[in-house]
Amino acid sequence: MFELPEDVQQIQQLARDFARKEVLPGAQKRDHEHAFPADLVRQLGEMGFMGMFVPEAYGGAGLSTLAYVVALEEICYADASVGVTMSVNNSLVCWPILANGTEAQKLKYLPDLASGTKLGCYALTEPDAGSDAGAQRTRATPDGDDYVLNGNKIWITNAPFADLCVGYASLAPEERNKAVCAFILDAKAPGFNVGKLEEKLGITSSATSELVFENLRVSRENLLGAERQGFRIAMATLDGGRIGIAAQALGIAQRAFDLAVAHARQRMAFGKPIAANQAIQWMIADMATRIESARLLTWRAAIFKDGADSARASHYCSMAKLAASETANFCADKALQIHGGYGYSKEYEVERLFRDARITTLYEGTSEIQRIVISRNYLG
Ligand code: CAA
Repeated sequence: MFELPEDVQQIQQLARDFARKEVLPGAQKRDHEHAFPADLVRQLGEMGFMGMFVPEAYGGAGLSTLAYVVALEEICYADASVGVTMSVNNSLVCWPILANGTEAQKLKYLPDLASGTKLGCYALTEPDAGSDAGAQRTRATPDGDDYVLNGNKIWITNAPFADLCVGYASLAPEERNKAVCAFILDAKAPGFNVGKLEEKLGITSSATSELVFENLRVSRENLLGAERQGFRIAMATLDGGRIGIAAQALGIAQRAFDLAVAHARQRMAFGKPIAANQAIQWMIADMATRIESARLLTWRAAIFKDGADSARASHYCSMAKLAASETANFCADKALQIHGGYGYSKEYEVERLFRDARITTLYEGTSEIQRIVISRNYLG
């Protein structure tokens, strides 16, 4: 498939119009002020973009993963901070509830998440459980009809503004991934504490913080999936999340490319536009080729994820994330180089893109973790 289906093209156009008109104009200011885009999140919810693949029966837009990644790329073209807020809510919160929740859980939580009335976060990472996600230390202690959770989570995107959280805790940390459980947590409950806010290099207007669970009481009704199935849920969720980050990276890369082309055409040096130099032409050619390759991989992963054999999509998701995130960093770097000293100035957008690109090879699994997932598919 080399052309998007017509219905997906319509979603792409809708996202593009909104992104360029509403999201792009304030992106620099929000970045400089570290201002969370609450108003834009609300508008994205009204457009159906906060629960894109949630079926209409649960208040969502009922769209495909392909439509989701195409729309997300457009939002991230304008502002990757807005994009990651949307991506976490869709991929890391709506998806695991949809895939693993009981009917009652889906009816209770998905409509508000999909409409953007409520915002979700995903709490897996801990101080000693980053790449090694199975090393969960947060403990879930059964107590009558409840569990009591204690532990710390870090780097949690959306946490300071979240209403609910898909969070992970272990019945027995010494059993590593075998004892992990997934829960739907009420972010307003006593014992659910938002800790230190992170000051980040990039995506500064997205909100990231620590979470401290202090005797956080959770009803058994809020267990997501079966006991001890949490690690599998976390990993399957991240498969979809990684396509979202691939889409985010593509948006950053495409914006960097477009700015580089525009600058190369208008910037004069030695009596001619710098685009007349082969050094610039080769950079533009390499950027374009990497973007197109990564985009095809991302679409391929999204189509695989929507297919009957979606459980086998992991390595395609990792390939998409690896290719697109490395491409975003490559393109942001080259765009800055083409801009020369201007690119190093906070007045120019490429400076923000250079910083925003950096996270894409880190979160939802580093490039090194993606290579582990990909190589295991071939080597076992
Ligand atoms: N789908 C379903 N199940 C899966 C799976 C998947 N994609 N991947 C693994 N599993 C299952 C395995 O089948 C296995 O099940 P059994 O025990 O029944 O056999 C179990 O999970 C354990 O799998 P592994 O042996 O592969 O586990 P591991 O300890 O070797 O870890 C890993 C594998 C790929 C390295 C994993 O730890 C990983 O992905 N680490 C990176 C963590 C990460 O991406 N964190 C991101 C945090 S969230 C975030 O960043 C959000 C944000 O800010 C925006």
